[in-house]
Amino acid sequence: MKTAVVFYSMSGNVRQTAEKIAENLSADLIEIKPEKTYPDKGFKKFFWGGKSAVTGEKPVLLPYEFDSGKYDAVIFGSPVWASTFAPPLRTFIEENRDNLKNKSISVFMCMSGSGGEKAIAKLKALLNIESFENELVLIDHKDKPSEENEERINSFCSYLE
Ligand SMILES: Cc1cc2nc3c(=O)[nH]c(=O)nc-3n(C[C@H](O)[C@H](O)[C@H](O)COP(=O)(O)O)c2cc1C
Repeated sequence: MKTAVVFYSMSGNVRQTAEKIAENLSADLIEIKPEKTYPDKGFKKFFWGGKSAVTGEKPVLLPYEFDSGKYDAVIFGSPVWASTFAPPLRTFIEENRDNLKNKSISVFMCMSGSGGEKAIAKLKALLNIESFENELVLIDHKDKPSEENEERINSFCSYLE
């Protein structure tokens, strides 16, 4: 089974987790980035990212390569922003609705405190699916590494193997 890990990361926690998952599952990594980057410091970081997330923006993405025919499974990775997923995922999903049909779809989210379950429910609604194949919510894996996070990433991957 060939898997793509499609993720957005502002400050590296999701990227680091995506890399671990991809290594574990021999999956391809597809990093999506908005053409216009979000401010990543201070008050502006939370204000503009949060606003973009709660208003359901679909930022234009830089070109990415997603050869959907190659994959049986897709794992989405996102930070939790204002209890929802980060807007670049919305753009990717809208651009690839047909390409995602009949694939096994899983998700992981990184957050600093809470809102992961809500974010997963919102992503599920956007994808119009009843459930994910597997799901995982982690507390900032890069900034606060822990044995527990490592174990949870490993068991997330074992289930999907
Ligand atoms: C705009 C914005 C909104 C956020 N909202 C939440 C939130 O609602 N709940 C939470 O626990 N963390 C929140 N965070 C923290 C991030 O989800 C968390 O640090 C995540 O691990 C960052 O992933 P990254 O390093 O890959 O960008 C927010 C961060 C930003 C920038």
